[in-house]
Amino acid sequence: MKIAFIGSGHVGQVLAKLFIKAGHSVVLTNRHGKDSLLPVTSKLGSAAQAADINSLGDDLDLFVLAIPFNGVNDLDDNLLKGKKVIDASNYFPQRDGRIPKLINHEISSSQMLADYFKVSTIVKAFNTIPVSELEGLANFENKSERIAIPIAGDDVKFKNIVAELIDQIGFNAYDAGNLKNSFTIQADGPVFGLTVDKKELSKKLNK
Ligand SMILES: NC(=O)c1ccc[n+]([C@@H]2O[C@H](COP(=O)([O-])OP(=O)(O)OC[C@H]3O[C@@H](n4cnc5c(N)ncnc54)[C@H](OP(=O)(O)O)[C@@H]3O)[C@@H](O)[C@H]2O)c1
Repeated sequence: MKIAFIGSGHVGQVLAKLFIKAGHSVVLTNRHGKDSLLPVTSKLGSAAQAADINSLGDDLDLFVLAIPFNGVNDLDDNLLKGKKVIDASNYFPQRDGRIPKLINHEISSSQMLADYFKVSTIVKAFNTIPVSELEGLANFENKSERIAIPIAGDDVKFKNIVAELIDQIGFNAYDAGNLKNSFTIQADGPVFGLTVDKKELSKKLNK
């Protein structure tokens, strides 16, 4: 697959590296234009390219949203229209500002993003594990002992694609339900920051 990143900081760069290792190619973007990302793409190798955020091609299979939540309103709300999106972002009131609807769980942060970007094919994933630990936790030896990555979304086909991607980078996907209830895997939820297997995730989420 050809995978585009909206935001290419800590999360974007580590996931890009893991996806390339799994045989995919990546396109990285940020607010400062493609030239600012050349040092990053040159380290990642020939499967990585940088692009200007508003000049992305039509040949992209999916997008990873990896920016601070408070940066979303700076983005064109048509940027991801009709696209397949993985939301790796988190909402932190201290960092992103108070949004009562999110704090009160009237809406999940991914649902708010889906509404803003007019996107129906969206899965929340990769947001719970500190990205500095991700590379070291990948396990290609023993699938039954893998760390699980919780995912949430409504589109079953796309969820399966994301689960397959997670498998390819050395983790097991854990289906945590739909987008509406995805606050269970948000930053204020019971599994945030946990690096545990499917069984432990299930215990925490089904308490
Ligand atoms: N760090 C973790 O361990 C971790 C783990 C899981 C999830 N997350 C979540 O993932 C998201 C990204 O975290 P991070 O640690 O990768 O942050 P980061 O290192 O600060 O990187 C953020 C990236 O987003 C870009 N950016 C910021 N605002 C933007 C905007 N309005 N439009 C386009 N690009 C923008 C930044 O580039 P420019 O500033 O150059 O534009 C940078 O490339 C956050 O929501 C975070 O909570 C973090």
